Amino acid sequence: MNVLVVGGAGYIGSHCVRQLIAAGHRPVVLDNLVFGHKGALPPGVPLYEADLGNEDAVAMVLRKESIDLVMHFAAFAYVGESVNDPLKYYFNNCVATYHLLRTMLKVGVRKFVFSSTCATFGVPASLPITETTPQSPINPYGQTKLDMEHALKALAHAHGLSFAAFRYFNAAGAAEDGSIGEDHDPESHLIPLAIYAVQGRTKELSIFGTDYPTPDGTCLRDYVHVDDLSRAHIAVFDKLDKPGTSLFYNLGTGKPTSVREIIDAVEKVTGRKVPVKFGPRRAGDPPSLYADSTKAKAELGWKVKFDTIEAIVETAWRWHRDHPNGYKG
Ligand SMILES: NC(=O)c1ccc[n+]([C@@H]2O[C@H](COP(=O)([O-])OP(=O)(O)OC[C@H]3O[C@@H](n4cnc5c(N)ncnc54)[C@H](O)[C@@H]3O)[C@@H](O)[C@H]2O)c1
Repeated sequence: MNVLVVGGAGYIGSHCVRQLIAAGHRPVVLDNLVFGHKGALPPGVPLYEADLGNEDAVAMVLRKESIDLVMHFAAFAYVGESVNDPLKYYFNNCVATYHLLRTMLKVGVRKFVFSSTCATFGVPASLPITETTPQSPINPYGQTKLDMEHALKALAHAHGLSFAAFRYFNAAGAAEDGSIGEDHDPESHLIPLAIYAVQGRTKELSIFGTDYPTPDGTCLRDYVHVDDLSRAHIAVFDKLDKPGTSLFYNLGTGKPTSVREIIDAVEKVTGRKVPVKFGPRRAGDPPSLYADSTKAKAELGWKVKFDTIEAIVETAWRWHRDHPNGYKG
């Protein structure tokens, strides 16, 4: 299939581009490079530098490249910033996405795979989080993703759009060969931040809260390898043939890992100490978030290849060790 990967120069999108090629598909990337990296794309993959809200540009690409399906990874995803500047998030994550969807419908492309998030669940009443757990986001970022989930359902009903929305837990790791990996600026994710501290790129790793009601007092999260996430996106293609299909999947390993366990894993894999600074809790951090991905496993045959935190951290370390300045060379 010809697949337009919107946000394909970003962290998860660029890994998905490689998985698409490995599965025999033809990826085409559209990215405005506000956060993406040209160097994250394999040679030969067409890159259109455009905003996803630009209907003329998107229509041109959909037609010229005979696109069958659109994968949409492009969004702003800094929770704190979304609280302080919500319109920035509503414009990029919702308004621009409405333009993208309207263009797809105009051109006649009706298959869509969407990056949603566990942030749509807010502080869940029960764990693990299944697809039927009530969604109640506690910040504008999570709300924009939930709003898009609702819009997609309406478009499936009204216009026969077929879509799958994947709610990722904590995407982590890098390509197994160490060629591409995570390079956000600013970085907000725990594993790269722990590695930066080990490498001396930052003075220390800040830990927010050691008095949570968890076994070691630090927050529990569900880290899932970026290539495992990508494979689920491709496994769903066959299910999107029927017009009007609406699918939702939670993607995680189902294993809660604490902040302290991440530090232990980084120290074990790198053989170096993580300099740590302990501080108070940060507002809005739920103590524990982890997925029940039974549905994705049963319906998509999805299997997690990287099923230990050490295996995930090893891939991240390989990337950061060999690219201490990320894509800047
Ligand atoms: N990283 C995670 O742990 C995580 C967890 C849950 C959900 N998600 C979601 O997954 C998706 C990908 O996350 P990521 O970590 O790869 O982010 P990223 O910032 O690395 O990648 C996003 C890409 O989209 C591009 N982009 C943003 N706005 C655009 C626009 N208007 N037009 C064109 N391109 C635009 C950026 O340049 C970037 O290349 C996001 O939608 C995010 O909300 C990520």
